[in-house]
Amino acid sequence: MNTETKDHWAERSKAWAATAVHGISPDDTFNQMIISECGIQSGEDVLDLATGTGNPAISIAHSLNSDGNVVCADLTPRMLDAARQRAQTLNLENMCFTAADMASLPFSDDRFDAVTCRFGIMFPEDKVAVAREAGRVLKPGGRVGYVVWGPYEENPPFYVPRRAVAGHLGIEEGPVPSRHSMSAPGTLKDILVNAGFEKVEERALRYKNQVDDIDDYVTRNLKRSFVKETENLSDTEFDSLKQALLAAWEPYVEEGVLQVPNYARLGIGWKSA
Ligand SMILES: C[S@@+](CC[C@H](N)C(=O)[O-])C[C@H]1O[C@@H](n2cnc3c(N)ncnc32)[C@H](O)[C@@H]1O
Repeated sequence: MNTETKDHWAERSKAWAATAVHGISPDDTFNQMIISECGIQSGEDVLDLATGTGNPAISIAHSLNSDGNVVCADLTPRMLDAARQRAQTLNLENMCFTAADMASLPFSDDRFDAVTCRFGIMFPEDKVAVAREAGRVLKPGGRVGYVVWGPYEENPPFYVPRRAVAGHLGIEEGPVPSRHSMSAPGTLKDILVNAGFEKVEERALRYKNQVDDIDDYVTRNLKRSFVKETENLSDTEFDSLKQALLAAWEPYVEEGVLQVPNYARLGIGWKSA
């Protein structure tokens, strides 16, 4: 595995852990879509890859209602610490946490009913090999569900703040981030087919995130995603940047509520029975 990726996520995990929610995410929509689209049910053993601070793992463990288990695997131990803390806050005893590269999983063959992975498969180099490895640890007849971000220009949660921050600080917006590198329709489907899965399907997941606390949303976003741009700002400068971001979100306020459109793509495949 690429050490650049490992170092990148180790570095980013400080801000992710500091801004992680404490219980169920205030915006749980993608997690609930994954649970429903993958048909995850009580009694199942689920592996969540690239769990980060616990999405969708926490929501899956909660939905299993103590009947079934979720194993969380992520490259970055500090991300897993934050996920573990969320599990403790929610008294979820059906979760365990393992630092692992999804390209080489420390689990036996045919162990899990389902494998999920939200916003993680964009990062390893050989995505087909990674999907084959997920297939290895699935029971015959089990399924894998990967979620990736749709195109940058169709995802305001990313381009609105990047444009606002760049405009306010007089810096470049920069290239399209790698998180959007698998956004073209058919990309996930091809990977799953090439990795040997059956009944492969790919579909769009779209919804509007209704943000109740805009101030908290904008502050967490700046602290998580703009660490370098904000670390040397005084309180007054940070507040001024925050005001610029709040102004950039104004066109998305409908009847007094910020409604942020999100667009991701889901690929599901089944291991032959
Ligand atoms: C964008 S975050 C997504 C976290 C979480 N699933 C979510 O949706 O909020 C990407 C995560 O992938 C992890 N990651 C990157 N490459 C990985 C790999 N090869 N194996 C396992 N985890 C990896 C990072 O440590 C990070 O926690």
